[in-house]
Amino acid sequence: MAGGFAESGADLELVGISKRFPGFTAIEELDLTIPAGSFFALLGPSGCGKTTTLRLIAGLEEPTTGRIYLGGKDVTDTKTYRRPVNTVFQSYALFPHMSVIDNVAFGLRRRGIREARALAHEALKLVELDHVAARRPAQLSGGQQQRVALARAVVNRPALLLLDEPLGALDLKLRRQMQIELKVIQGDVGLTFLHVTHDQEEAMTMADTVAVMNKGRIEQMGAPEELYELPKTVFVANFLGQSNLFTGPVVSSGKDSIVVDIGGRKLEVPRERAQRHAGEVTIGVRPEKLQLHGAEPKAAAGTNVLGPGRVTDVSFSGVSTQYQIAIPGLGTVSLFAQNRDVGAVLREGAEVWVSWDVAHGFGVADDPADGPRFDPDDDTRSIAVQRREKLEAELEGA
Ligand SMILES: Nc1ncnc2c1ncn2[C@@H]1O[C@H](COP(=O)(O)OP(=O)(O)O)[C@@H](O)[C@H]1O
Ligand SMILES: [Mg+2]
Repeated sequence: MAGGFAESGADLELVGISKRFPGFTAIEELDLTIPAGSFFALLGPSGCGKTTTLRLIAGLEEPTTGRIYLGGKDVTDTKTYRRPVNTVFQSYALFPHMSVIDNVAFGLRRRGIREARALAHEALKLVELDHVAARRPAQLSGGQQQRVALARAVVNRPALLLLDEPLGALDLKLRRQMQIELKVIQGDVGLTFLHVTHDQEEAMTMADTVAVMNKGRIEQMGAPEELYELPKTVFVANFLGQSNLFTGPVVSSGKDSIVVDIGGRKLEVPRERAQRHAGEVTIGVRPEKLQLHGAEPKAAAGTNVLGPGRVTDVSFSGVSTQYQIAIPGLGTVSLFAQNRDVGAVLREGAEVWVSWDVAHGFGVADDPADGPRFDPDDDTRSIAVQRREKLEAELEGA
């Protein structure tokens, strides 16, 4: 597509990166390789260190330890404005007194590039906004402003584009639409995108590779389906979708599977899908993998059964119904049933059993007791705003 933008992205490599602020470690021993041209998402709750990671890559913050390589070149000590990196923030940070086209051409003009205007038009075409080039940002919708911010970043042809929750300020419908558009644009320009978000659905729908970050560390990294189908820690199992988790001792361990005693019931998990094979282990299964039964199902090889339990909550959401089922001595199990019939099929109080294919279970490396499920949500937005001001000052100075 659009000529001039074909320049491809660069590999990004972080080696042994840590970042300590006075009295607080934000990033711990981070190792990460992002191949050129990929769409990579860094996913984690507020305060886990996502923005700090981007700031380190952009050169706005110095790592306490470790090196950063771009396209094989060590840029750890390279000044911000000398790095082939651009950032798009949650708040668009467009200049309100300038037209859209002048906003996009701004960086190029500063660098004395003569075809600035033509290149800016080309970038605006890419985000399908060339027809509003003469307008002021205030005359555009939130989604359009965000696209202008994107055009302004892409026009500089950075080897690496950093996106820090760029869709966070948009409403849900617009956000979904922008997610698709962003992905198309990334494919067109072939740049390396590093997208930061706390929205698991956003990360999964957009990225080739997702890294789940928790308390300054990457817990697991892989293709979205891989992470979802085989989470390796309690945090990943709960942060990326929902999981039913059970903890108990391994009572037998065979060539193909392990059997775990959960409150007197025996549950089987494929050996290769379990991170641990002995002692106390935590196993899990996704709510949509469960089958609901109104009578006790016949025991069958390759199937795990729990019950009887009671339906304690029925939540109808159109596409599916979510059931909460209390199983004595075991806790509450969550189940999603597709609405193939009309409405919810079972009412609160109904006696039920649940079953699932052994192949769908997984075993994680840690236990729920190892830590709280989520950290207290320390809001970093105010820090982000301060930083944006600082960044704008830095950009002006560059
Ligand atoms: N300049 C700073 N001084 C001290 N602590 C900071 C600073 N910047 C960030 N932090 C802390 O580092 C942690 C990670 O912050 P941040 O990277 O902004 O998280 P995220 O973007 O994932 O929400 C937070 O606990 C935050 O309070
Ligand atoms: Mg942040």
